[in-house]
Amino acid sequence: MRIYDIIAKKRDGFTLSKEEIEYFVSGFTKGEIPDYQIAALLMAVYFSGMNEEETLYLTMAMANSGDLLDLSRISGIKVDKHSTGGVGDKTSLVIAPMVAAAGIPVAKMSGRGLGHTGGTIDKLESIPGFSVVLSEEQFIENVNRIKIALVGQTANLAPADKKLYALRDVTATIDNMSLIASSIMSKKLASGADAIVLDVKTGSGAFMQSEDNAICLARQMVSIGTGAGKNTIAVVTNMDEPLGNAVGNALEIQEVIDTLNGNGPKDLLEVSLVLGAFMLILAGKTDTVEEGIGILEGTIADGSAKTKFKELIEAQGGNSDILDNSGLLPKANIIMTITADAEGFVGSIDAKTIGKASLVLGGGRETKESSIDYSVGVVLKKKVGDRVESGECVALLYANEPDRLKQAEELVREAYVFSDKPVQRQKLIKWIVSKEGISKY
Ligand code: URA
Repeated sequence: MRIYDIIAKKRDGFTLSKEEIEYFVSGFTKGEIPDYQIAALLMAVYFSGMNEEETLYLTMAMANSGDLLDLSRISGIKVDKHSTGGVGDKTSLVIAPMVAAAGIPVAKMSGRGLGHTGGTIDKLESIPGFSVVLSEEQFIENVNRIKIALVGQTANLAPADKKLYALRDVTATIDNMSLIASSIMSKKLASGADAIVLDVKTGSGAFMQSEDNAICLARQMVSIGTGAGKNTIAVVTNMDEPLGNAVGNALEIQEVIDTLNGNGPKDLLEVSLVLGAFMLILAGKTDTVEEGIGILEGTIADGSAKTKFKELIEAQGGNSDILDNSGLLPKANIIMTITADAEGFVGSIDAKTIGKASLVLGGGRETKESSIDYSVGVVLKKKVGDRVESGECVALLYANEPDRLKQAEELVREAYVFSDKPVQRQKLIKWIVSKEGISKY
């Protein structure tokens, strides 16, 4: 087999075989095929596309390129949850304790944030002492003992994807549906779950801004999961405005605690309950979303989800006193109030721009190497549809460096668009995509 022939075949629009795909993935991962040939192949895939079978073969080859987590020593059906990334998206941290409290094991590997989107692992690291690194033994032991463990991805998880993603990033080939779907799913398959619930975000703060593209990505990922023998469901959810009120690591942890105490924002709770309910369905705990939501609401009402979060924090070395004493979370020195110039209604809040404001304050990463200030961020006091009086507070900025405030303030002001007339809130949960097809929620 020759890489030259594989490039030419894809350039001319033909379908690659399983062997050809495995050959280039393995050769590239081992460093036997140079970047320039894979770059050419990626561009050929970008223009010629890949069909469902090719996309599945690519996903499997990338998943099998490194560590494959074996979760068979954990009893029960292990359901993973993945979000395509958003602003203020802390659903995993609300869902995991609720689902674990309902008796379903949660053995989850999560990623770090990059650019305007935050990562679950960074949020967890804002809890003093919390370690996101556990040995495989400890990870499995924790899930067997307390039903929950949340860790960062191991360095050798789908290394082929890591190399291919880095090359896509510099060759303008990120934006291809098969490449995105296979990249995400390769890491999910290598993480060893039996079933997968995907939250595919759509809107201004999402990777997939249009609903059609989000549905297309959801379909491809469900097809890959199903093809790999994993029960997979995708929920397409709205990310036109940030989810919840807090954007920024420690601020988001506080919002998770509020939510587990029964005082969280309605939108965050709604998305968390629906995604969590699908996890319960795939785990065989219930048959309907309504019943699943009822079970999860029960874990908040009786305090068992909060207790589970406490157990998780303690098992991974964190200070669980944060649950009842918010003063123990990292705190910013400066809090700046942004007020409305006139009365009206909040028409829209551009999620990406709010994410950028948090990034400017130091709450996110510009590059993989950047360090994060866990205490900073933005808290939205007014969301889409809310009425605002002139001079009323719409958002708070949490900062440590005064010279970053001006730019962050400008971004938040740019993100908010006001209207004279009452504004209808968008539906949060838009579509459910399963192997049976697509349906409106
Ligand atoms: N997230 C990934 O992991 N891969 C992509 O290609 C895009 C988003």
